[in-house]
Amino acid sequence: MELVVVWTATFLGFCVVFLTYFTVAVSAFRFKDIYCKISDYCECDFQPDIKGLEWDLYRNLYGQHLAQEIISEALDKFLHNDSPERPLVFSFHGSSGTGKTMVSSLVGKYLFGSSLSSRSIHHFIPTLHFPDSGQIEQYKKELKSWIEGNLTECARSLFVFDEMDTMPSGLVDVLAPLLGPYHLVYQTNYRKAIYIFISTSGSEIINHVTLEARKSGLDREEIRIEDLENLLSQAAYDCKGGLCHSEVIRTKLISHFVPFMPLTRRHVERCVRQEICHHGQCHRKDIITMVAKTMGYHPESEMLFSHTGCKTVSAKVDYYL
Ligand SMILES: Nc1ncnc2c1ncn2[C@@H]1O[C@H](COP(=O)(O)OP(=O)(O)O)[C@@H](O)[C@H]1O
Ligand SMILES: *[C@@H]1O[C@H](CO)[C@@H](O)[C@H](O)[C@H]1NC(C)=O
Ligand SMILES: [Mg+2]
Repeated sequence: MELVVVWTATFLGFCVVFLTYFTVAVSAFRFKDIYCKISDYCECDFQPDIKGLEWDLYRNLYGQHLAQEIISEALDKFLHNDSPERPLVFSFHGSSGTGKTMVSSLVGKYLFGSSLSSRSIHHFIPTLHFPDSGQIEQYKKELKSWIEGNLTECARSLFVFDEMDTMPSGLVDVLAPLLGPYHLVYQTNYRKAIYIFISTSGSEIINHVTLEARKSGLDREEIRIEDLENLLSQAAYDCKGGLCHSEVIRTKLISHFVPFMPLTRRHVERCVRQEICHHGQCHRKDIITMVAKTMGYHPESEMLFSHTGCKTVSAKVDYYL
């Protein structure tokens, strides 16, 4: 008899403890949900390491002093502000293989401690996510609700729109209300987000300025952003597809236009060297010469800049090794 009483008491006690835990857990979950909606402190796996990013860009990004400076400086300022007035919006421009996608991955890596797998990083590729320009109205709804949903979850989020040249024109304007100042939706703070748009528009102007600087005997590093900014923002507007003719550019929602300059044979050689060392074959100087020789260069008369930057280097190294 006594044994039964003890067992029943133990069982009831256990139930009470379990129910208490359960209630607390559920309300904590609900609480976080509500808290995220009314405050701006749902930063998820945000753990920025700007010094690390600066160092990595300095060591491993070749020939892009403007990108390196602009990005490090802008991020540093933006992240030190707990209540920014507007999101940080970069537009990367430059020809193929100059490091645009690479830099966007590095930014993700040093903001969230994990390259592109964090739930705070969203990487859009138009040919994959928005392949059919006939469905633009549907895409507009989807894109807006994705981003709003993502930002409700994590205020500090990174959105990368790669290969904007293939983005159906008009789609990006659905983002315009989210990129401006003082925009509050569902009380969530949208102004802590970082956006990167990547395209090749404007690369003619960047390549031209780089070539002219070289012809007049200037060091590449002496080109200043002021020499390029206006021409570049103009060229980013006067083109086809993606950001071209968008409200986003017209209403000045881009915080920084970032030029990626064409890479020279020297830079290509450094890319090859890096790649062979990666394979533990640093001594194969013959491969450096061979790969650099097989690349195409422009302009035809001087053969200064690689057509495809460093893009095909790793495939070529794999072939020769
Ligand atoms: N400026 C650069 N410095 C070092 N490596 C580079 C640079 N540009 C390109 N690469 C190499 O070439 C690869 C392709 O470059 P990527 O960033 O995809 O070019 P894109 O500008 O077309 O997006 C990179 O993963 C990287 O290994
Ligand atoms: C966040 O964005 C991704 C695309 O990266 C999308 O698939 C997902 O549904 C979005 N999340 C929310 C909550 O809307
Ligand atoms: Mg790319």
